[in-house]
Amino acid sequence: MGALLPRSRGSLEVGDREGALRHPERLPVSTSGPSPSFLSPSRPSFPSSSRPSSSPFSSLPRSVVVTRLRAAGCVFAEDEARLLVNAARTPGELAAMVRRRVAGLPLEHVLGWAEFHGLRIAVDPGVFVPRRRTEFLVDQAVERVAGRSRPVTVVDLCCGSGAMGVALVAALPGIEVHAADIEPAAVRCARRNLASAGGQVYDGDLYEPLPAVLRGHVDLLAANAPYVPTDAIELMPPEAREHEPRVALDGGADGLDVLRRVAAEAPRWLAPGGHLLVETGERQAASIVEASAQAGLIPTVASSADLNATVVIATRPAAAPVSAVGAAAGQLPPVG
Ligand SMILES: C[S@@+](CC[C@H](N)C(=O)[O-])C[C@H]1O[C@@H](n2cnc3c(N)ncnc32)[C@H](O)[C@@H]1O
Repeated sequence: MGALLPRSRGSLEVGDREGALRHPERLPVSTSGPSPSFLSPSRPSFPSSSRPSSSPFSSLPRSVVVTRLRAAGCVFAEDEARLLVNAARTPGELAAMVRRRVAGLPLEHVLGWAEFHGLRIAVDPGVFVPRRRTEFLVDQAVERVAGRSRPVTVVDLCCGSGAMGVALVAALPGIEVHAADIEPAAVRCARRNLASAGGQVYDGDLYEPLPAVLRGHVDLLAANAPYVPTDAIELMPPEAREHEPRVALDGGADGLDVLRRVAAEAPRWLAPGGHLLVETGERQAASIVEASAQAGLIPTVASSADLNATVVIATRPAAAPVSAVGAAAGQLPPVG
């Protein structure tokens, strides 16, 4: 995985969709009751042991970095300071990184990487930061094909940095991976992350840029598409609202505009017995279950309380030809 950043330092929090853990005091919703997953924190993943800084200079002592980060509202100031000090190659670079972080840039954008599924994924400015909860979708996907002897074809739709595709390649060596996103910055970033795995990354709207040869042959169709309701975006902390593209967050009135389209067209692309896996909010899952069933798929819901994650898994019946599945959906023409 040559494009990945070296795994030599501690992990960092990439958990919640909106960085609420890093700035809980900015969280605009109550954390005492249930809240949609995109507005609620997930488990922090900082290592408990702290490696001594490898920084060759001390012009900006770590304690000063901690103080500045804490004053800016960074809850995990100690961990963040360690990561920044370790990442900076010069005093000037460290000062600039601290300034960017204090100004509100997501830590992962300052560092240039995020930890996801035990891997370091390059994340460019303007690209969605992969969240810890999405590791649950990856685990669910791996479970469904682990041990399979024939080659596995995977599509990471709405791929962002390509984190899910990279994690799936790492967990399932030898798979063929394709990814697509509508945002040019995400496509560039995913191409870098997936290059050494031979992953193909396409630029365009959902399935539109995928090669037709994949139709009916996809074993795993993984989609972490935007699912935040439009009205809820203003409730998100500035880290997400201001530094992640709107197209990565906004799922329309009920948050499900993109996911409904993903479900409706999935049967055309899935192999018999293939699985669509999409992340949703807990309260949105029933709507996607319904949309998947209408498309002729067999849906189930899996959730992780630990990661505050909900995934709808919709399987194309093994026996049904794609034309029959499309007919059951009442919206897909037979595919020739
Ligand atoms: C929530 S982010 C998830 C990114 C990545 N899957 C991850 O988990 O880190 C959603 C991504 O969907 C992309 N996207 C939104 N609408 C899209 C569309 N119509 N077609 C393709 N990609 C889209 C955004 O650009 C963004 O990168």
